[in-house]
Amino acid sequence: MKANDWEAPKGTKTFLHAKSISKSYGGLKAVSEVDLKIHRGEVVALVGDNGAGKSTLIKMLSGVISPDRGAIEIDGQPIRFLGPSDARTAGIETLHQHLGLVEVFNVPENIFLGQELTRRRLGIFKGLDHAKMRRLTEELLRRVDLRLPSLDQPVKAMSGGQRQAVAITRMLLNEVHLLIMDEPMAALGVDEGRKVLDLIVTLRERELSTLIISHNLEHVFAIADRIAVMKNGELISVVNTRETTSDEVVGMIVSGRSYKEA
Ligand SMILES: Nc1ncnc2c1ncn2[C@@H]1O[C@H](COP(=O)(O)OP(=O)(O)OP(=O)(O)O)[C@@H](O)[C@H]1O
Ligand SMILES: [Mg+2]
Repeated sequence: MKANDWEAPKGTKTFLHAKSISKSYGGLKAVSEVDLKIHRGEVVALVGDNGAGKSTLIKMLSGVISPDRGAIEIDGQPIRFLGPSDARTAGIETLHQHLGLVEVFNVPENIFLGQELTRRRLGIFKGLDHAKMRRLTEELLRRVDLRLPSLDQPVKAMSGGQRQAVAITRMLLNEVHLLIMDEPMAALGVDEGRKVLDLIVTLRERELSTLIISHNLEHVFAIADRIAVMKNGELISVVNTRETTSDEVVGMIVSGRSYKEA
């Protein structure tokens, strides 16, 4: 069986289906006819060497760039993203490596950045509703079991893991079905990386799906339901984490061949 033919257990719904999508830069096929399904409530890890096409693939799924060929379906319906806001409307949020936080802002200010809540004062002037933003921030943090030392500190005073928690919490402000993360743990210490992993597991319990790029196979094996391996723009294999080993995954990353076909 080709691993990509893997069928989800009965009752599992597909949220997103990338149907044979491709993207070339000049003569270089950065992503070549990749077919990948992401089901509701599953964590898929995307692995592969540098330049394998991982970031290019997730940029297409998050509306940053458009595929040259192929189609994307959400809940079985074809959809075209003209930009990241279209993907966000469809319930796809992406955590980029730079996180996009404003250093001098505190937690609620960062969470509501660009979508601040306002209220009328004296019936005329519109002002920011700080109390409500703070209340909703506390609520969101509680929902994902996150504790931060202080909401009023500017985020520049926070650790890498705490900032990441703020960035992830912000993604949950809108109705989100799929979180996409490009190397979220790369810059974190062991403890902080572990917290992000825990958070992904918490979110999965809430039927949220995650697509995560990581070079750290230990992390991948700790959280992923399936592992998608890319090389030279191609999706080599998608395997069930429980049915593979680290050695097999490394073998596929290096050889570009599915061990099941070997
Ligand atoms: N905007 C671009 N213009 C030209 N070539 C690009 C562009 N973006 C990516 N590429 C090329 O496409 C290929 C895939 O790149 P991509 O960034 O998707 O790889 P990756 O798997 O994310 O690698 P890494 O693990 O190093 O982040 C690479 O050869 C890269 O040089
Ligand atoms: Mg990349």
